[in-house]
Order: sequence, then structure tokens, then C-alpha cells
Amino acid sequence: MSSPIVEARNLTKRYGDLVAVNDISFSIQAGEVFGLLGPNGAGKSTAISVMTCLFPPTSGQVSVGGHDVVREADQVKRMIGVVPQDLALYPTLSARDNLIFFGEMHGLGGQTLKQRVDDALACVALSDRAHSPVQTLSGGMKRRVNLAAGLVNNPTMLFLDEPTVGVDPQSRNHIFETVERLNRERGMTVLYTTHYMEEAERLCHRIAIIDHGRIIALDTPRNLIDMLGGGIIHIGMAQADEALAAAAGQLPAVKAATFLPVAPSDDGAPSRRVLKVEARNASDALIQVIQLFSDRRADMLSVETLEPNLESVFLHLTGKSLRD
Ligand SMILES: Nc1ncnc2c1ncn2[C@@H]1O[C@H](COP(=O)(O)OP(=O)(O)OP(=O)(O)O)[C@@H](O)[C@H]1O
Ligand SMILES: [Mg+2]
Repeated sequence: MSSPIVEARNLTKRYGDLVAVNDISFSIQAGEVFGLLGPNGAGKSTAISVMTCLFPPTSGQVSVGGHDVVREADQVKRMIGVVPQDLALYPTLSARDNLIFFGEMHGLGGQTLKQRVDDALACVALSDRAHSPVQTLSGGMKRRVNLAAGLVNNPTMLFLDEPTVGVDPQSRNHIFETVERLNRERGMTVLYTTHYMEEAERLCHRIAIIDHGRIIALDTPRNLIDMLGGGIIHIGMAQADEALAAAAGQLPAVKAATFLPVAPSDDGAPSRRVLKVEARNASDALIQVIQLFSDRRADMLSVETLEPNLESVFLHLTGKSLRD
């Protein structure tokens, strides 16, 4: 991992009044698996569309392999593979004929094309289904053909947009292992978007967490999880008691205690409040907080210690769950 393959500087994309991607900057190093992790509507697919020359940014610059995605789109397209979020396959054509079609679009032909198509099918373990029309394949197999289509031009840089959504566990694992192998054995650089944090945690060298079009954190999974420090405890209460929160914040094992912003409830019922306790040490903090509530005769409706994972990091940074 040395030189950057992708460089995005102040990338913004608007759809009318809506700012889908809001002034993001990052670079992806050669040989890296880089994750974009964010909830529905965060702007992941929009960012990928700009990076893969589907449409230009509203402002800012992106280069891939040193080529500007607007001015030098042809050079960029030659070195990238794109696996879109929605299946882009011809259902009546066989898996093989779909790949031949994509290969021809990349200007391949003859023996090279045949070899690339065979390699791509082998890579996703579908050589034995090469002649099946895509519409007769299972959902997971279609996803694998979709992945193969992104590989026929033997790209240096592969963009994968939620490649495992709606896929059975076996195919999901298969897609996973294929991406790991492409990165490890061929040194392929990968951008991977997902809202499954366990996937991102396992696969990605670095992760940008994106919310409402902005990057709110960017680091290795380990360092992101270390942001949780000694642990986070959520305590449900019927209403916000600011004096109690202030007292909790003063406890020896507690770094800070604040109420999470109130999420609007669907049925208009008063929503309960959640006191977020950032601990220096989770178990000590828990004992001290329970003692404090007991001394003050305050009701605890629920207590939850967040697991040290990326879901908790997202909750910590935004006050909301990645999948709500
Ligand atoms: N063609 C479009 N026209 C108008 N608005 C759009 C268009 N495409 C996306 N948007 C909006 O831009 C925002 C970002 O959408 P985008 O598809 O990039 O999110 P995403 O992170 O890929 O979400 P998901 O996880 O659901 O795929 C959303 O608010 C979406 O409604
Ligand atoms: Mg998307």
C-alpha cells in the first residue's frame, strides 16, 4: 500500500435541492480494500457513480489511477471494474453470453475474451452453470454473475456496491471469499460499500463511515472501535433528568454522560430518553451508575452495554442505529 489509486477532493453531488454527497475527501491506496459504510440514503451509490464516470460531480474532483473521471473518463473506464447495486444482466442470455457482452463492451475479442470470460466464471465458481440463462439462476448466483461481469476486463480497481444484499449465506460467503482472494492474490484494489458492519469489519483495511452525504469518521476498523474507549452504556429513562446526567458525568469511572437526541416516534407517543454513558471502565461505570440511580430513586427502564463493534461506533457517532 503506497500510492493512492483513487483521490476524491471536496466531492459534492446534488440532485436538485438534495445534497446526496456533501464535500467528501479521501484517498484509496493501491492494494487496499476500502469500505464505505453507511445507512440507506447515505450517498454511497452516488459517490460510486461519480468515481465510475456514470455522471460528473456537482463540484470537486475525483481521479482514478491519476486520471480525472470527467476529462479522462476513457482511461478511467479501462482500469476499473464496476459491480452495481442493482443487477445489470440480461435475464434471457446465459451467464457466459452476458460476460461476453460485457467483455466486448471493453473492446475484448477472440482468445483473450474467451479466456477472460472463463476465468471470471471460475473465479465466482459458476463454470458449471455457464450455459444457464441468467433468469434460471438463484438470486445468489445472479449476484455472482454480476460480480464476474465486473471482472472480465481484469480491472486494477474494483468498485462493489452492496454486492451481498439479499443473498443467501452460502453465496454471501462465496462473494466475500472471492473479494478477499482477488485482493490478496492479484493485489486488486477494492472499494466496497455495505450497511452490514460485520462484512466491513472483516474485509476492509480502512473504512469511511458516511451519513447524510458526509464522512463522519475514517480509519481502520480497529481504530474506529477503539473510539468507544472503555465502553458505552445506554440507560433508558422515562424523561430526561439533566441533574442526574450531570451527576453521572462526575462519577470516577465515567468520562461523560449525555442524553441522546430524541428520535421522532411513529405514533406520536412520548418517546423515552436514553442516557449515554461513556465509561473509562464499563463494569465499574455500570456499578457506579446503578448506585447513583438507586440513591436518587430514579427509574431505569433499560440498561444496555454496547458491544465493541462498528454498529456501536455508528451509534456513538450519530445517536442512531445503522439499520433503522
Ligand atoms: N437519481 C436520483 N435523483 C434524485 N435523488 C436521488 C437519486 N439517486 C439518489 N438520490 C437520493 O440521494 C441520496 C443518496 O442516495 P444513494 O443511492 O447514493 O444512497 P446509498 O447510500 O447508496 O443508499 P442505499 O444503502 O439505500 O443504497 C438519497 O437521499 C436518495 O434518495
Ligand atoms: Mg446504494
